Amino acid sequence: MQKPFAEEAANREPTGLLSLNGIVKHFPGGVVANDHVDLEVRSGEVHALLGENGAGKTTLMNILYGLYKPDSGEIRIKGNTVQIGSPREAIALGVGMVHQHFMLVPRHTVAENVALGLTGSPLWRPDRAVTKGLEELGQRYGLPVDVHARIGQLSAGEQQRVEILRALYRGAEILILDEPTSVLTPQEAQQLFEVLAHMRREGHGVVLITHKLDEVMAVADRVTVMRQGRSTDPVNTKDIDKPALARMMVGRDIVFRLTKSACEPGEEALKVEGLQARNDRGRQVLDDLSLSVCRGEILGVAGVSGNGQLELVEVIAGLRRPTKGRVQILGRDLTGKPARVVADAGVAHVPEERLGTGVVPSMSVRDNLILKRHHRPPFSKGALLQTQAIRHYAHQAIEQYGIVTPGARTPTKLLSGGNIQKLILARELSGEPVVIVAAHPTYGLDVGATEQIRRLLLKQRDSGAAVLLVSEDLDEITALSDRIAVIFEGRIMGIVPAAEANLDELGLMMAGTPMQGGPA
Ligand SMILES: Nc1ncnc2c1ncn2[C@@H]1O[C@H](COP(=O)(O)OP(=O)(O)OP(=O)(O)O)[C@@H](O)[C@H]1O
Ligand SMILES: [Mg+2]
Repeated sequence: MQKPFAEEAANREPTGLLSLNGIVKHFPGGVVANDHVDLEVRSGEVHALLGENGAGKTTLMNILYGLYKPDSGEIRIKGNTVQIGSPREAIALGVGMVHQHFMLVPRHTVAENVALGLTGSPLWRPDRAVTKGLEELGQRYGLPVDVHARIGQLSAGEQQRVEILRALYRGAEILILDEPTSVLTPQEAQQLFEVLAHMRREGHGVVLITHKLDEVMAVADRVTVMRQGRSTDPVNTKDIDKPALARMMVGRDIVFRLTKSACEPGEEALKVEGLQARNDRGRQVLDDLSLSVCRGEILGVAGVSGNGQLELVEVIAGLRRPTKGRVQILGRDLTGKPARVVADAGVAHVPEERLGTGVVPSMSVRDNLILKRHHRPPFSKGALLQTQAIRHYAHQAIEQYGIVTPGARTPTKLLSGGNIQKLILARELSGEPVVIVAAHPTYGLDVGATEQIRRLLLKQRDSGAAVLLVSEDLDEITALSDRIAVIFEGRIMGIVPAAEANLDELGLMMAGTPMQGGPA
């Protein structure tokens, strides 16, 4: 990863911009999300906020942004003690936030979204007033965006650009980014870091929440680690390394390289032939795509997002009808069958979009854990739900996957981002799935949970599951896969054994150059 800031670090005079002192926040159910947290951000620095899933990072930032009121503690901005009762007040004090889950209105245009809620906006066509300023800002920060495009038509990376521009437009001097790169391609992430470098030069302060330690090492000046609601003293990134950071977070050593046993592929479990499918906007995004995965094997699908991965996964999971082609599980044709039938045939699905497809946010943790299986034994007999079995299973899953929640009956929407992902994984990876289709399975997970889930996927493979792993993260793909397929514009550019894969060759295929000698 490039270091956009390295050269300037020495000749800056840091000054105090923001300090949070002794912040305490309790939630119902006995959760102490923030337990006397301190955080100090200087002008002209990128400050990483690190910590395990559920450590209290988002809560702390929501307090700073005026979304929650702290039980006690003090916030100072440029030396003055302030009360921040709402996002509007936060913005007036120069605090901007880009959330873990985006908060733009999909039907409106970029300019309308920025104008929305702005004080002093004219009533008639408020978007016109902001257009010029937005375009100038976009130029200045290297954040090009079509101000007339509707949000719903933009990629995740573009939406994030809009969120950042909106914050800057409103005069943010302190910008909070909550896991900004989990939805970005590596190239988009690099662009984001250039923007952060720019903000830093202008004397702004950035709080960056991320689980990617390489990013912390590359772009942050200092790091504050949170553990179970408490904060540590900040450390300079130049005085520390990645293993030490991981240890500060989870209190043990993390294995960044997994050892895995040799692959012993069994019978063909998933076979996809000549698939064609359209996306939500009616464009054809799968183009005669074929692949197969055997029991005991992990096939990684690498590619820049938006090249048909989402639709491929949905077609296999029974959530999207292909316009042509077939999907077979253990030789049985399941093309176009409903998701319930596909799940009952032994297909586990870890979706890309966790809040929409993965869980029902208003339902309890327990009900989400048995979501697709409540109609099958041991959870039901005849028409009767077996509450005892369900309760037992839920407690076991919470324990085994380390899901941080006050209880099994807590509404799922109250869990932290990473803990919702753990819930989905617990549901999909338990039992004996024949095929596991996993999109970005470690998205949003902390380093400890990432390691645990990767081990689990390997264990499932070793006990005979066929795994289709879709990810943009080449580290993840190469760490787990036995074979790697590269997808580009809905087609497979080539399939290589993971042991022989080289990054340059994968990169070329990801950009649309078919493999030498044609696709395998
Ligand atoms: N509105 C709420 N009501 C009840 N509990 C909550 C609420 N918001 C957060 N929590 C709880 O507070 C704790 C901290 O959550 P928070 O979202 O701050 O974690 P996080 O550090 O951002 O984790 P992640 O890395 O998974 O995003 C968790 O146990 C969470 O379940
Ligand atoms: Mg969070």
